[in-house]
Amino acid sequence: MASPDIFSPAGPPQRCFLSAVFGIISHLGYFIHGEYHLQAPNIAQGFLATIAVLYASLLKFSESRIVIYRLFFPQLRHSPGPKLAAVSKLYHVSKLGKYDNFKLLDRWHRQYGDWVRIGPRELSILSPNALKAAIGRGSKCTKPPFYDITKPLISMQTSRDVSVHDKRRRIWENGFSSKGTSTPYLDYLSHSPNADPTLHSYEPRVARYATELLAYLEANAGVPINMSARFIYLSFDIVGELAFGRGCLGYEQGCRSDSTASTPKHLFYHLAKHPDMLAKLREELDPVTKDKPFEYRNITNLPYLNGLFNEVLRFHAPIPSGLQRLVLPEGITVDGKFIPGYTVIRTPTWSLMRSEKVFQRPLEFIPERWTDQPELVKVMDAYQPFSRGTDSCIGKGMALMSIKTTAALLATQMDVGLAPGEDGNDLLNHTEDIFTLSMGILDLVFERRT
Ligand code: HEM
Repeated sequence: MASPDIFSPAGPPQRCFLSAVFGIISHLGYFIHGEYHLQAPNIAQGFLATIAVLYASLLKFSESRIVIYRLFFPQLRHSPGPKLAAVSKLYHVSKLGKYDNFKLLDRWHRQYGDWVRIGPRELSILSPNALKAAIGRGSKCTKPPFYDITKPLISMQTSRDVSVHDKRRRIWENGFSSKGTSTPYLDYLSHSPNADPTLHSYEPRVARYATELLAYLEANAGVPINMSARFIYLSFDIVGELAFGRGCLGYEQGCRSDSTASTPKHLFYHLAKHPDMLAKLREELDPVTKDKPFEYRNITNLPYLNGLFNEVLRFHAPIPSGLQRLVLPEGITVDGKFIPGYTVIRTPTWSLMRSEKVFQRPLEFIPERWTDQPELVKVMDAYQPFSRGTDSCIGKGMALMSIKTTAALLATQMDVGLAPGEDGNDLLNHTEDIFTLSMGILDLVFERRT
């Protein structure tokens, strides 16, 4: 059946032209100025109603209109990348395997270079300057629609309204005593005027849970143990203590992905594989822990322990695909290139942490790059595992305390090795990217230290 000619006397060429003009006007005049993903059902309804009125005369040109617009008109057209990714985000999604976004991004960067267009309005930029522009104080970027993922529930982290976020953050800070990327625990130890004993009060409780893990390992000496699970339990116990005043959440609920658990797991993988690293760590720890009650203050500033910790967070980036940020309407310039407003950008952390531009010998695990071989770090600013500024990790002090306490207690009391048949393959090659890293299996054997 022929569709009624609502723009009569216009013929098909004129309808095509009108349809294209209408599409461009609605895009430039309306859609580009805001976010409408949450109104998708309403927009879809309105769209269907419009179709009913305009019949197929407009519809048959609409898809091609959007595709052509996305391919040729926006300012991102000069950024290389898979052509279909410029047309629809579905292309990126269709190319994903099982939670392997960081590997896909890495492949695309090898193929297309440092700037890759990974969606109609989305760029992945392998550059320390992009990271600087995206996060931290003074950034002209904000949280993108990705953070609506938990709606209708909104956590502090997923809150996109800056005033709401900051209000909630001030409440959290009372509990963590953490402001931005500062280390309040060190303030406390140095008796600075900013000193706040809140974090300090968690020390005995964190040490208690780490000691319980130590006792478990002693009781199971010589037996292969899935340490992925053990570190998850520990992490949930500590966070449970923090949130609810009691642990055991890990045992009751399980969970798969957690950076406070993935960090010690990777750390002990390297210690099990490299006895020389364990020996060097003990040289540093023994004098401050042997024959005295454990005190966190004695291990906060040990260079080699810090080096190991930093290197684990570099080599096994906990948020491997990087954080997304939305460019504010005025746009930004990165490495001399203009990025228009409403573009979503990200720096792929896993690739950046393994880039020759940022580190020397980036594919080698070398804790000394953070101690006596600083020349192995070329761009210090590019290393931001806890992010920066007002959205940065508020739990950094707590994470440092729990991971270092656990590392110190286990490394000084136990010998550790890979379990028979364990080669780290599952850990290194089956890492899953679920925003943070998921827990691959790692079987280790602990023995009482000889
Ligand atoms: C090695 C361990 C950890 C790493 C690498 C890490 C990293 C990060 C990063 C990169 C962010 C920014 C996320 C974003 O912008 O979307 C963040 C935020 C956050 N982290 Fe952590 N984190 C760790 C441990 C912890 C722990 C132990 C806690 C709590 C006890 C915690 C609580 C938070 C909270 C509440 C936020 C949101 C902050 C805000 O929106 O203002 N983190 N973390």
